[in-house]
Amino acid sequence: MIGISGRTRVCALIGDPVWHSLSPTIQNAAFEHLGLDYVYVAFNVSAENLEKAILGVRGLGIYGLNITMPHKISIIKYLDILDESARRIGSVNTVLNRDERLVGYTTDGVGALNALRYAGVDPSGKKIVILGAGGASRAISFTLAEYARELIILNRTVERAVDLARNIRDALGDLVNVKAGELADRNLERELKDADILINATSIGMKPNDSETPVRCDFLHSNLTVFDIIYEPLETRLIREARIAGAKTIDGLSMLIHQGAASFEIWTGMRAPVEVMKEAALKKMREAEGYNRGMKDDW
Ligand SMILES: NC(=O)c1ccc[n+]([C@@H]2O[C@H](COP(=O)([O-])OP(=O)(O)OC[C@H]3O[C@@H](n4cnc5c(N)ncnc54)[C@H](OP(=O)(O)O)[C@@H]3O)[C@@H](O)[C@H]2O)c1
Repeated sequence: MIGISGRTRVCALIGDPVWHSLSPTIQNAAFEHLGLDYVYVAFNVSAENLEKAILGVRGLGIYGLNITMPHKISIIKYLDILDESARRIGSVNTVLNRDERLVGYTTDGVGALNALRYAGVDPSGKKIVILGAGGASRAISFTLAEYARELIILNRTVERAVDLARNIRDALGDLVNVKAGELADRNLERELKDADILINATSIGMKPNDSETPVRCDFLHSNLTVFDIIYEPLETRLIREARIAGAKTIDGLSMLIHQGAASFEIWTGMRAPVEVMKEAALKKMREAEGYNRGMKDDW
C-alpha cells in the first residue's frame, strides 16, 4: 500500500448518489498494482452544489475526476476545454486537471468498444441494434457508428432515437448508416433476424426490476452477440436468455471496467491493468452480495 503524502495525486468521483459505486475499488486497485502515488475517493455532490464542487476541485488541485449521474451534461459549462468526442457526444465522464485547466473527456463509448473487443467481437462491418437513446446509448452509438455496417437505434420514446440518429449523421456524415425506430416487438423481430450485435442501453432489467427484459427470448439467436450494459445484476434476464439461445454474451461490468481503464489512462498516461481492475470489482461485488444475503438471513 502506497503511503498517502503531500505529493499524492487525488482523483475523485462526483455524482449523486455515489455510495454504491465500484469506481474507488477499481481505480485504487489499479494505482496500487502499479505502485502509483494516486488515491481515488468519491464525493456525493447534489445538482445545486456542482458549481461549488468544481471550484473546490480547482482550489484544492484535485488531479482527475469521474463524473456520474446526474452531472454528465451539466458539468460541461464549468470546464475549460472539451475533448473532440466529449464535444460531439455532449457528455463528460472524465476530467483531467492539466496545468490548472479542466479538460473534459467521455470514455463511455470507448469503454463499450473495448468491452466488445476484449470479448473478441469486432464491430467493424457488423449490423448493430442498440436499445435506448439516453446518455449511455448516445456515447455508445456515436462511437460504434464509425465501425458498424448498419446501426439501428430503438427507443421507447421514438423522437429521442430519431434525434440521436440525426445528430450522428450530422457529426459523422451521410456515409454512416444509422436508422431509428420505436422499441417495439415488430421492429425487434425484423431487425434482430440478421443482426450481429444487440446492445441493451436502456435500464430495463436493472435491479430491482430484474425480472424484466427488453427483448422476447424467441427473437434471440446463436449468431448474435448480446451485450447488456447493466451490471446490477451482473446476469440480467436478457443475458441469461441470450445464453440459452446460444448467443455470445457480454455483461455491463466489462464496460464499467473498460471505461474506468480509459479514465485511468487519461490521468496516468499508463496502460491500465484491466485484469486487476476486474478482479477487484468482482471481489467487491461478491462481498456486497454476501453482505446482503447475510442481512436477509438475519431477518
Ligand atoms: N456498464 C456501464 O459502464 C454503464 C455506463 C452507463 C450506464 N449504464 C447503465 O445503462 C442504463 C442506461 O443508463 P443511461 O445513463 O443511458 O440512462 P438514461 O439517460 O436515463 O436513459 C435511460 C434509457 O432507458 C430507457 N428506458 C428506461 N426505462 C424504460 C422502460 N421501462 N421501457 C423502455 N425504455 C426504458 C429510456 O427510454 P426513454 O427515452 O423512452 O425514456 C432511455 O432510452 C442504466 O441501467 C445504467 O446503469 C451502464
